[in-house]
Order: sequence, then C-alpha cells, then structure tokens
Amino acid sequence: APPSTDYATYCQPRLTEMMGIVGLDKHYFQGEGSRIRYRGADGAEREVIDFLGGYGSTLLGHNHPELIRHAIANLQGNMVHHGQLSVRAHAGQLGRRLSEHLHAATGRRFMVLQANSGAEAVELALKAAEFAKRARISQALKRIETELYASSCAAQAGKRLRAGDLEAIRALVAGGGDASPAELFGALERYNRRAAAARPMLLGLRRGFHGKTTGALQLTHNEAYRAPFERLGTPVRFLDPGDLAAADEAIADSEVSLYSVTDSAGELRLSKSAFSNIAAFFAEPIQGEGGIHPLDAGYLQRIRERADRHDFPLVLDEIQTGMGRTGTLFYAEQLGVRGDFYLLGKSLGGALAKISAIMVDEQWYEPDFGLLHSSTFAEDDYSSSMACRVLDVMASEGILQQCADKGRLLGVMLRELQQRYPDVIREVRGVGLLIGLEFVPREDGSPTLRDIFMEGRLGYIIAGYLLNKHGIRVAPTLSSPATIRLEPSALIGPDECRRLLDALALVCEILRRQNAYELTNY
Ligand code: F0G
Repeated sequence: APPSTDYATYCQPRLTEMMGIVGLDKHYFQGEGSRIRYRGADGAEREVIDFLGGYGSTLLGHNHPELIRHAIANLQGNMVHHGQLSVRAHAGQLGRRLSEHLHAATGRRFMVLQANSGAEAVELALKAAEFAKRARISQALKRIETELYASSCAAQAGKRLRAGDLEAIRALVAGGGDASPAELFGALERYNRRAAAARPMLLGLRRGFHGKTTGALQLTHNEAYRAPFERLGTPVRFLDPGDLAAADEAIADSEVSLYSVTDSAGELRLSKSAFSNIAAFFAEPIQGEGGIHPLDAGYLQRIRERADRHDFPLVLDEIQTGMGRTGTLFYAEQLGVRGDFYLLGKSLGGALAKISAIMVDEQWYEPDFGLLHSSTFAEDDYSSSMACRVLDVMASEGILQQCADKGRLLGVMLRELQQRYPDVIREVRGVGLLIGLEFVPREDGSPTLRDIFMEGRLGYIIAGYLLNKHGIRVAPTLSSPATIRLEPSALIGPDECRRLLDALALVCEILRRQNAYELTNY
C-alpha cells in the first residue's frame, strides 16, 4: 500500500509535499538494529541501512533486544508509571549513576533533574540557572541593604560621609539634588533594587541549536526558526565560536553595580560591588544541527575560566554529543572542560522512552527549585528504568569503545573519499559516530545543481538518491543543508559502512560530472 495520506491531510501537509519531491515520503513499519523497512509503491518491502539514526536517538539501534525485554518485563510486571508525588526510586537510581559518573570525571557533585525532551531539558537548565543566579543577586542585595540600614542609623546619629561621597550618591540617584542624607539612603536602596531586577543576559553561539520550545528557541541561532517567535522570549546574545574578545565584551556589557555605604575607619564610605548579570552560557561541544562543528577545546577552557571569574554557569548541551556517541559518555570529558550543567536527551531512553535529563553542579543547585519545576511525565519509573538499562547495555556491550573505534574507521574512510573528491566534498568533520560531510558548490557546473545548492536542497536531494537508489538513509543538518550528517547506531557493521562509502562515491562521481538528472531520477 502507498504511504497513508492521512499524515499529509491531518498533520503535515507542507512537509509531506516536500518529502514527496525528493522521495523521502516513506513509512517505516519495522526496525531492528541499524536496519529499518518500508514498502515501496509496488508494495514490495525495502530494507534500509539507517545512518540518520533518529537524529541521534538510536545509538543502540532500533528495538535493541535487551531493552525490549526490559520494557516488556516492566509492563508485564505492572510497574507504576504515574506515581507522582511519591519517591521515584528509578529516577533516583538514574540520578545516582549519572551523578557518580560526573563526580569521577570532574570531582564535583551533581544533582540530576528530568524532563521529557531535549528542548524541555534546555528549558529546565534555563530556569535552574536563572533561579540560582537570582538567588545570588538577592543574597548580595540583602547584605547591602543590611549595611545601608546600619549606615543610615550611623548617619542619623551624626556620623559623616567621606568627602565627595554625598555628591557621588546624589549623582547616582537622579533627582537627589537637595535630598537629605536620610532620603539619599532610601534612594540608594531603590536604585539597587532596580539594578538587581535588570533582565539577565543569556549567551549562546552562532550556529548553536538547543531546540524549539519558545525559551530554548531563543538560544537556537538559525533565524528561520527563531525570528518568527522572537517576540516571545528573552533575547540571547550570540557570539562567534572562538571569539574571546566578543565574549569579554558581552561580559563587560552585562555588568550590574550595586552600591552600599559602609562604616569604616571612623567615617561612612560609598562602595560599589559589581557582578556579571549573565544567567548562563550555552554551548554544544560539537555543534550538531549547525553542521557538525567541533568547538575548540582551548576556547571552551577560556570560557570556563571566565565563568568562574564572573560567576555564571557554563551549560554544556550534550543532547547530541552525549550518551557515548563520541566515545565517552560526555564529549566534554575528552576536551577536559568542566560544565556547571550537562544536558542529555536523544539516546538516553534507548529510543523506547522519551526522556531527557540535566545534571546541575551543586554549586548552582537551589533545593527549592525542585518544588517549583515539575511535569506530569517527568521522573516516571518506566523511562528512568529504561535509561538505567541503557547504561547497563552500554557497559556490557562496550558501546563507548565501539563508538570510538567505528567512528575512527568511518572517519578514515570518509576522509579518503574527500581526498579523492576535493572538488565535491569540502570537509569531513566530527568525532566518533557524529560525522558531517560538507559538499561544495560549483560555479561552472550545471545551473540546475547550482539552483538546488542555492536553495538549500542539495542535502535533501542526495538523501533521496541514497535512500531510493542505494537503500541508505541519511539527512542533512537542518541549518547547513549541504552537510550530510551521519549518526548511525553503535551496532553499525563494517559492511554497512562500506555500502555507504560505495554509494557516496557514486554521489561524488555524479556531482563531479554535474549530472543533475542522474541524482534526481532513480
Ligand atoms: N539540543 C541539541 C544540541 C539538539 O541537537 C537538539 C535537537 C535539542 C537540544 C532539542 O532536542 O528535539 O528532543 O527537543 N536536535 C535535533 C537535530 C532535532 O536536528 O539534531 P529535542
């Protein structure tokens, strides 16, 4: 039977039309390991090697037998799925395991909070970071107000302000021209409260991607996604990855000053305490959706130093890079850079549960936060227990090593191909089983192919060709549509990689000959 038309009619009319044009409008009805199946227009079953891997969610393949067994046992054992407002033992277990891992890697203690999707984990991190930053500001404000109170009492008792400070306070609080010292203390307090309430600054990176809920979307750089909804959220300052001067400028711009009057050396003195009002710095250690661009470790380390110096949290969004895909549970472990927050999603539920989690350094965790954020579906026993089993399977099957080894092999093969076709493939980027293959445009070639490239359709055309002609499923990254991203399961075999390479070599031949017809007629 042809793919159901219900999806186009009731769910996704535009997308289905676009997928139809490039031959991606298939319904996959069965999946096992790195293979999935659909029925062609003739009704015959076709098996496909999945190098798209659920955009990174099927690291353990489709329907991993051990995970299926575990899911069935949980369901048949009548596990309580929705036991809200109770002790979530499985969430606790998952939390302990992730936290212990990070403790071993960083020497820090982390709290583990759960959400249901990647974007929701980003929301959670945003809220937790802002909550903690605000608590710090409130604490500073409280200390200053206590000082101001004591100093105003001292002033009333006749103690004098240091020469010049009275004028300085008058200049600071507009309209303080003929105010009495007592009135000036009140004005200073109001000034501080206004300053402390200033909206925070959020820092993100150009090419960054953090999901599409209204909050997370502000951190997602791609304008096509963000601009239509930018009125809804807190604006984000985007920095060029690697540009430390831009980071320093943003940090300087975020500075907020609070003023106190302290009693010292027999007189009252005006004093200033400045802090950086950055709620969080978000970064993907390898920018995935933006085109598989690894960040420079030195740059991230310098940001780490600034985070410590200016007291803002570094949020490492490892939703794409984490769960072992790069050869370590967190990619940051290889970079030797510590985050204050780590985010996981995608493969955490083994592609059988929708679950994401954030790890928060205790230094940035306010116990009250847990009372303020919750979700009907988060911390459920089923998903938490699945995630724990995912960690078991990763250990027993040596998934980290497999990702490292297979990724290295695939990388070598792809770089060889790139050297054979430097006129077609610009670059191979990535680590482990997170690889991007960027194609280059040709000035002198087929006008049809040039149009396809300019309109951002080349990656989709290649995906359609590879799927229909060679039974290989890939997709471009959304924000870099001439970059094919490869995120196969760790179970991928050498023969499957070879088939991918043979098919990609044919794509390169076609593009070298600029034969648009062959690429679109299969
Ligand atoms: N953060 C990163 C680094 C991501 O790659 C994604 C999603 C998200 C957050 C949002 O997760 O989709 O579960 O809400 N990445 C996609 C991609 C969709 O193309 O890789 P989500």
